[in-house]
Amino acid sequence: MKSPFLPVILVLAWTRAVAADPAPPALTPCIECHGVTGVAAKAGVPHIDGQHGQYMQDSLRAFANESRKSSTGAHKGLSRDVMNAVVGHYAAQKISRPRPATDPAQVARGEGIYNNRCADCHMDAGRQSDKDAPIMAGQDVDYLARQIIAFRKGDRRFPTMMDDAYRGLSEADLLAVAHFFAAQDPLAPAAGAKAKRRK
Ligand code: HEC
Ligand code: HEC
Repeated sequence: MKSPFLPVILVLAWTRAVAADPAPPALTPCIECHGVTGVAAKAGVPHIDGQHGQYMQDSLRAFANESRKSSTGAHKGLSRDVMNAVVGHYAAQKISRPRPATDPAQVARGEGIYNNRCADCHMDAGRQSDKDAPIMAGQDVDYLARQIIAFRKGDRRFPTMMDDAYRGLSEADLLAVAHFFAAQDPLAPAAGAKAKRRK
C-alpha cells in the first residue's frame, strides 16, 4: 500500500460507516455539475457515482498539472484534505447513473473490438478495472466518446500500454467501443466466475 493513498482509504472507510453520508462542505463547488451523488447534473459531465477513489485522485492531480486538459477551474488547486473529502464522498456512493441511449449496431461492433483490445484492463465489460482505471460501464456516451478520442489527439496522456491497444483502430472503431461501454449495466452480475462485484 502506497502511503499517499492511505488518507483516501481512511476517508472511504469513514464515509461508508456513516449511514446518512451527509455531503461534506467541500462538495459545494462540485454539485452544480456532478450533483450530490456523482450522477452528472449536466450534459457532457462524467458520472462519478461510486467511481474508484484512486482513479479520481489521479484525475484531479492530472487536471492540476495540466497533463489532462480541463477548462473547469473548480478541478484545480484543491488541498489534500478537500480532495480526500470530495473523492471519498463520491467513491462511497451507490452507483445510480441513468441508462444512456446507445446505438445497438455500434454496441455490437464495439463488443468485438473491446474483447480483442480493451478487456485486459477494463474487465467485465467495464464494470471492473484495476484500480488505476475507471469503471466505464454505463458512463455517459458523449463523455466517453470525447475521452476516447482525447487520448489519440494527445489531450490526455495514454496510460502504460493503452496506446498499444489502440494501434490500427480507426476513429469509428473507437467510437463503437464508447457505445459498448455506455450500454453496459454497471450493476449487472459479473460475467466471469473470478470477477468480484464491487457494490
Ligand atoms: C462546471 C462543471 C464542473 C464542476 C464545477 C466540477 N466538475 Fe468535475 N468534471 C466536469 C467535466 C466536464 C469533466 C470531464 C473532464 C473535463 O472536460 O474537464 C469532469 C471530470 C471530473 C473528474 C474525472 C472523472 C473521470 O471519469 O475521469 C473528477 C474526479 C471530477 N470531475 C471531480 C470534481 C470535483 C471533486 C469537483 C468539485 C471540487 C468538480 N469535479 C467540479 C465538470 C465539472
Ligand atoms: C494496459 C491497460 C489498458 C488497456 C489495454 C486499455 N486501457 Fe483504457 N485505461 C487504462 C487506464 C489505466 C486508464 C486510466 C487512465 C487515466 O487515468 O488517465 C484508462 C482509461 C480509459 C478511458 C477514460 C475513461 C474515463 O472515464 O475518463 C477510456 C475512454 C479508455 N481507457 C478506453 C480504452 C479503450 C477503448 C481500450 C481498447 C481499445 C482501452 N482503453 C484499453 C488502461 C487500459
